[in-house]
Amino acid sequence: MRKRLLIVDDDPAVGSALGKQLAGSQWLEPCGQAENVETAWRMLRDVRPDLVLLGGIREAERGVLCQQFRLAFPHLAYIAACEPRELAWEPFFRNLGIWVIAKPIQPGQLEALAMQHASLQVLPMGGVQAGGAPAFAAESGSAPGLHVVAEAKPVQPYRESRSSSKHLITVYGPKGGVGKTFLSRELAVYFSLQKRDGRPLRVLAVDFNLDLGTFATSLNLPRSPNLFTWVQDIDARLQELVRRHGKDPLDVRPEEWQEYVAAVKMQPEEVDKYVVTYEETGLHVLTSPRDIRYSFEIRDYHLYLMLETLKHSAYDVILIDTAPDTTDATIQALFFADRVVMVGNPIVDSIENIQRMLKLLREAEYPEERIQLCMNRMQKREMFTLDEIRAYFHLHPSQKIHPIPDDAEVKKSINTGTPMVLHPGRSAAKEAIEALGSILLPLDSAKNDSVKGKAKERPALLKWLWR
Ligand SMILES: Nc1ncnc2c1ncn2[C@@H]1O[C@H](COP(=O)(O)OP(=O)(O)O)[C@@H](O)[C@H]1O
Ligand SMILES: [Mg+2]
Repeated sequence: MRKRLLIVDDDPAVGSALGKQLAGSQWLEPCGQAENVETAWRMLRDVRPDLVLLGGIREAERGVLCQQFRLAFPHLAYIAACEPRELAWEPFFRNLGIWVIAKPIQPGQLEALAMQHASLQVLPMGGVQAGGAPAFAAESGSAPGLHVVAEAKPVQPYRESRSSSKHLITVYGPKGGVGKTFLSRELAVYFSLQKRDGRPLRVLAVDFNLDLGTFATSLNLPRSPNLFTWVQDIDARLQELVRRHGKDPLDVRPEEWQEYVAAVKMQPEEVDKYVVTYEETGLHVLTSPRDIRYSFEIRDYHLYLMLETLKHSAYDVILIDTAPDTTDATIQALFFADRVVMVGNPIVDSIENIQRMLKLLREAEYPEERIQLCMNRMQKREMFTLDEIRAYFHLHPSQKIHPIPDDAEVKKSINTGTPMVLHPGRSAAKEAIEALGSILLPLDSAKNDSVKGKAKERPALLKWLWR
């Protein structure tokens, strides 16, 4: 059976050329071309492609778009066609489970991938899993998974979710010990003190340090329930679904498993069962598991289901603390985010790694305006000035690096589980954190007294830093 290829490219010539070149192919048939993002979403749903070729679309960032497509249609295979100069993206795309080919597009290459697709199954979020022929192509309409795929989920176009008032903020830094967990805690507590339209914000902090997370510790919170409780419930539900289809969960092949995953529906309210509450401010926390071994059992599809569910939950702000790595959990947290706080210290190794990460994200066309750089632990006299660091990062003139001063109180505040933003009185670190919070989530100052107050406080911080 020929695989159906959807072409996503704003140049109509690409589709017409491929149409001619693939006319006699026994492996592949183009099933349409989408010249903009909106049409692409509609065609993904309506024309039922097997493979999606992503050429250029001017209005969209391709890496992000592809990630969005994959979240809504995880069973499809995605191919990015890159200009030779863009081939540096290849490792990044591959890491996400996307195939990469060089332009000009050779129809033979596409056919080879279609052949490969017949014997390999792409997992929902990255990695390619060896297996038999994919269930949706090789099996009849009565196959248990098939109707699952047909039951396409309501698709949330990327731009739509952007305009919603919900905010997902990921705190990331490609080096350990720079202050990610500290800043995540402070920002989460800060947001939980803010109001919108007279109502306190509903805030959830998520610890994505799956193996060695300490977010709960930093607030003296219990570690159960936690993320793994949720994972176990997802698995129980998956197994029940499989049994209802008359199968033994142990006999389910990986490619079928993925279709069951797509069929699991989580209600956004269910998240409540897995969070602990920081009573002082009402902040909710989804903590990482206590036992490192549990983290080995958390799979990409668990993370995908959780993030999808959180995206539709009632929280106004979801703040994710991450590990200093490039694993699936971290990459998903970066791609799901509306804003990223990229944390570093004014030390060469930290600066170097941020530069390397920025390079990778730029190559993947990650929207850089989403990233807020933050230099934590700034001392009064640093070897590198923020201007020098900015120049090194090649930041856009509008992009500022946000400084957070080094403060001896931080250690104590972590040891006692008392956030700096709850300390009475003023300190430079507290003011810098609050200023960062209001940059990440500007609230209507007319309706929010605390933000109004803060605007006045900022010069004190600047004076402290530039003195
Ligand atoms: N602004 C700061 N001033 C002083 N010490 C800090 C500051 N930020 C972080 N620290 C120290 O750095 C340590 C590591 O921070 P942490 O948030 O755990 O880093 P990460 O999550 O990036 O690994 C903290 O325990 C704290 O002692
Ligand atoms: Mg940490």
